Amino acid sequence: MTEQRKKVVLAYSGGLDTSVAIRWIPEKYHMDVITVTIDLGAVKDLDAIREKALKIGAKKAIVIDAKDTFVKYFIFPALQAGALYEGVYPLATALGRPLIAKLLADVAHEEKADAVAHGCTGKGNDQVRLDVSLQVLNPKLQIIAPVREWKMTRDEEIRYAEEHNIPVEAKIKSPYSTDENLWGRSIECGVLEDPWAEPPEEVYKWTKNAKDAPDEPEYLEIYFERGIPVAINENEMDGVTLINTLNARGGKHGVGRIDHLENRLVGIKSREIYESPAAIILHTAHKALEGMIMTKDALRFKDIVSAHYADLIYNGLWFSAFHQDLVAYVLSSQRLMTGTIRIRLSKGTCTVVGRKSPLSLYSEKLATYQKEDTFDHNASLGFIKIYGLPVKIQAQKQMDILAGKEALRLDSIMPPKVKSLEKAEGDKKVK
Ligand code: ARG
Repeated sequence: MTEQRKKVVLAYSGGLDTSVAIRWIPEKYHMDVITVTIDLGAVKDLDAIREKALKIGAKKAIVIDAKDTFVKYFIFPALQAGALYEGVYPLATALGRPLIAKLLADVAHEEKADAVAHGCTGKGNDQVRLDVSLQVLNPKLQIIAPVREWKMTRDEEIRYAEEHNIPVEAKIKSPYSTDENLWGRSIECGVLEDPWAEPPEEVYKWTKNAKDAPDEPEYLEIYFERGIPVAINENEMDGVTLINTLNARGGKHGVGRIDHLENRLVGIKSREIYESPAAIILHTAHKALEGMIMTKDALRFKDIVSAHYADLIYNGLWFSAFHQDLVAYVLSSQRLMTGTIRIRLSKGTCTVVGRKSPLSLYSEKLATYQKEDTFDHNASLGFIKIYGLPVKIQAQKQMDILAGKEALRLDSIMPPKVKSLEKAEGDKKVK
């Protein structure tokens, strides 16, 4: 043997697809496989996965605990940004992918590998997120995506596994495709593909059905420092513990279930179920905190940034200059976001019931209707006079044209177009 065999670093979950890949890649590409299993907080037996990789034929099997990195550099920044894709999905799967890509590229560098491989299909967002990230991190790496290439059906994969002595667990009989990490659990396929079908109870693993949740509500006080949650009920804790705690508390009360018909990056609509108790609680609390500390203009602008930020993460553009620019804005916006939010968890709901902050812009003296009121009621007169001036003048000068001669009649206050449509319909009826 003169030439050394090439090496490929495979992101290995322990599931059927990537287990089959450990055999298939050497067959097809004549490369040695090094597996990397990355712990982002999914509850799994990592030692067993390592053993399994070696048993199937990996030359080396690496396990990386990346939970702290995931929280510090991915989850909490996304929380500060208010990143909810299409307003509802906290992006658990999407946030994990750039980190997985980074760790794959790092291991490939250390192991002097020529290629990296992952188990994504050719239909989802995850292949785009991983491939685009990898192309940025190390354009020289060859990317192998066996599932995208081999076109085996699930049954064919199982047959291949059996022929090659690859253990097939009973669990793969499940019709659902799932992905999970600290920030949430994503479930798709099976009966969920019918957008009219209510998700069966069996798809949920982290959250109780609201009807089985305790009758007694539970209250949590979440303390944020510069937009980062650091304590629950005055107990300071690290990010991983804090998120695990909220996943457990929220799940117990049936909080965190999301049913989303979402727009995939590859152009199709897909029905996804998510369980994200901690993410829902923290986003709800964080937004309430911003509501107390930010000015109205800042809040309006933050909403725009949040939507762009969520799209960018969903669309796999983590390693882009635009992301860095948005992060700079978000971090600046979070300088003042320190305070405590009180949350009630009850029967599937997560409700803000109290908020306080030393930097709050809320003034009880200004807001009260009691005699302590310090708001200058007389100043309102002048304010209204000037504030209303443009529309007052408009009414005087333009209303005849904008709304017809009866401009001041109650039935003519509709915008001109709507009004003319209604008239046309009415005319027909008279005839
Ligand atoms: N639709 C979600 C996303 O694109 C989740 C995908 C989850 N993957 C899975 N194998 N279930 O981020």
